[in-house]
Amino acid sequence: MNSDTLEGRAVLLGITGGIAAYKSASLCRLFVKAGAHVQVVMSRAACEFITPLTLQTLSGREVHVDMFGRSVKGVEHIDLADDAELFVVAPATADYLARAATGRASDLISAVTLAFTKQVLAAPAMNTNMWNNPATRRNLDTLAASHGWNFVQPGSGELACGWSGQGRMAEPEEILEAASALFSADLRGRAVLVTAGPTVEDIDPVRFLSNRSSGKMGYAVAAAAARRGAEVILVSGPTALPCPAGVRRVDVRSALEMQRAVDENIAEVDAVVMCAAVADYRPAKVAPHKLKKQRGEDERIIELVRNPDILAGLGARFADAPSRPVLAGFALETKDLERAAQKKLAAKGADIIVANLAADGFAKDDNAALILGRDGARRDTGRVSKRQLAEVILDEIKSRFPANP
Ligand code: C5P
Repeated sequence: MNSDTLEGRAVLLGITGGIAAYKSASLCRLFVKAGAHVQVVMSRAACEFITPLTLQTLSGREVHVDMFGRSVKGVEHIDLADDAELFVVAPATADYLARAATGRASDLISAVTLAFTKQVLAAPAMNTNMWNNPATRRNLDTLAASHGWNFVQPGSGELACGWSGQGRMAEPEEILEAASALFSADLRGRAVLVTAGPTVEDIDPVRFLSNRSSGKMGYAVAAAAARRGAEVILVSGPTALPCPAGVRRVDVRSALEMQRAVDENIAEVDAVVMCAAVADYRPAKVAPHKLKKQRGEDERIIELVRNPDILAGLGARFADAPSRPVLAGFALETKDLERAAQKKLAAKGADIIVANLAADGFAKDDNAALILGRDGARRDTGRVSKRQLAEVILDEIKSRFPANP
């Protein structure tokens, strides 16, 4: 088993109340052996199955259970959430998953979950009928698609409750492996340029043309690439999003500024992911002063000129180059997704086109994409969080890198 990536990592281990909680002691031990700093938080129900003292002894740290009480020193739920890089919940019971999916903060572990902003890995464990219940399915879908959670699926077999079927918590070794994979730095040594957000094309000092792109997809790609060890340059149009950790952001406004920032950095990168919604046109002239309405003027015509297509420009520039960055573009369509994406693949000279329908992903936290490759590859992702889609896009890019960095 490869658990090298866990060395020195801060892992918050959450234990909720199921019989599989007895396996969490082995899991805690495995994390500690792999060099992780483990902080344990347990639900009250978990303490019915295994004592905090066991986990305290194995982790070497005080175990947190209660939100209130004499032992609670302050805003523990926030500190616990802030201090960890990864939150592993094993076992994750049906009730805990329901609380997490609906944003409850009714006990310490739920409040920590709500306050946690980084990667979560959950190992569900429950009776097979509870597992198959539509309510549980819905909660799992919500957590995967909207919250970007990762899951280690339960196995099938005889359950402690006497039933046989899916619901048995994955083995500790498997959970450790999944946690380790989340820290893998498989893009170390690579540089990735990501464009994100809308562009803003000024009409005068107070008015502009733009679009409703939120920037979420591009920021998710930038964050995932940084997490996987890449050097990341994020060329971003105006968005409300914070710069992801470990990412160098270059703020731009217009398509021309975006093109300049891309050109300035292109020589150093191994891949370009063009997530930005670049305006196709800009006003021919930017008025130096605020335009006034004129008496008797019922119509105002603003002359627009074509913006450069940044991606197509790169595609053309590198068409016959012996070495080139992997070029990934997006196609946001409202109909005929596959046909439009195929056309765009050729027209832009891209290696990959990630095609999605506006109704599926625009400004949302999740998306459903069809990824087409110039090499004939075709991958339908189904509905996934933008975070997971970002990982899939990076996997596709990685598989197209030349052998050595
Ligand atoms: O042609 P369309 O705008 O649908 O193409 C979308 C893809 O091309 C996206 O990857 C987008 O970032 C990129 N693009 C560009 N420059 C433009 C327009 C789009 O790089 N002017």
